[in-house]
Amino acid sequence: MTAQIIDGKAMAAQLRARLRDDVEAITAKGGRAPGLAVVLAGDDPASQIYVRNKHRACEDVGIKAFSHNIPATTTQQELMDLIDSLNKNPEVDGILVQFPLPGGLNESEVVQRIDPSKDVDGFHPYNVGRLVQRIPYICACTPHGIMTMLHKTLGDDLKGKNAVVVGASNIVGRPMALELLLAGCTVTVTHRFSKPQDQKALIRAADILVVAVGKPRFLDGTLVKDGATVIDVGINRLPDGHICGDVDFEEASKRAAFITPVPGGVGPMTVATLMENTVTAWKSHLGIK
Ligand code: GUN
Repeated sequence: MTAQIIDGKAMAAQLRARLRDDVEAITAKGGRAPGLAVVLAGDDPASQIYVRNKHRACEDVGIKAFSHNIPATTTQQELMDLIDSLNKNPEVDGILVQFPLPGGLNESEVVQRIDPSKDVDGFHPYNVGRLVQRIPYICACTPHGIMTMLHKTLGDDLKGKNAVVVGASNIVGRPMALELLLAGCTVTVTHRFSKPQDQKALIRAADILVVAVGKPRFLDGTLVKDGATVIDVGINRLPDGHICGDVDFEEASKRAAFITPVPGGVGPMTVATLMENTVTAWKSHLGIK
């Protein structure tokens, strides 16, 4: 079997086009444009690239971006004060604080300070709790974008599929497991404390495999089940400058039915889903369903 490539770039362009139409229809009637505040602390090169992509997507969709580039030496209190002012700003519908934050800044406190109605990352305990209780509102961008890709690729019914999530981070692994559970999959999460033999056996049985560990070619592609769907969340820069995922693409794509490439898979859908969440928050702030 040779896997079909899941074209995240094309799916993201489609989603952005739909959002652009939505935004145009409302602003044409005199409504204000959606606003997204993007906070970047420090000068991590990877974060700078991600933030640049988010700004470009805002421009494409018609979202007004408010840039807050703050030094790595910013104190926790200064960052909290900035979030308080963005929470109060009626032009700002969404607040995105790019992670990881420079050492010394507490990410959890930041997440909890953001008004849940402006939490377009879907990281606030209120929004995570809603997903846990099967009343999702704003969901984390990477997992939700992956669900959009899975539904487009496999159809709406994912019930009973064996889904294995490799990695248990707050940003991807945990909310991913909740999304798959909500869709009716049988979900297993493996992580750094999983026994290697257990992890191998679970991966071999996975119909849907989502890998988010941040280690180049971490997943041995020969373990992939024939006909599986493989979602590679990793974006790793190799010493030679090339970007590669968390999955050994060459071997995995010989066995999978569908696989996401890196780059051009999950990354663009994460950004498009952030735009989707911002439009959702904006409509809610305007009182539009
Ligand atoms: N860093 C890596 N992924 C993300 C994300 O989805 N949101 C934020 N805020 N930071 C990230």
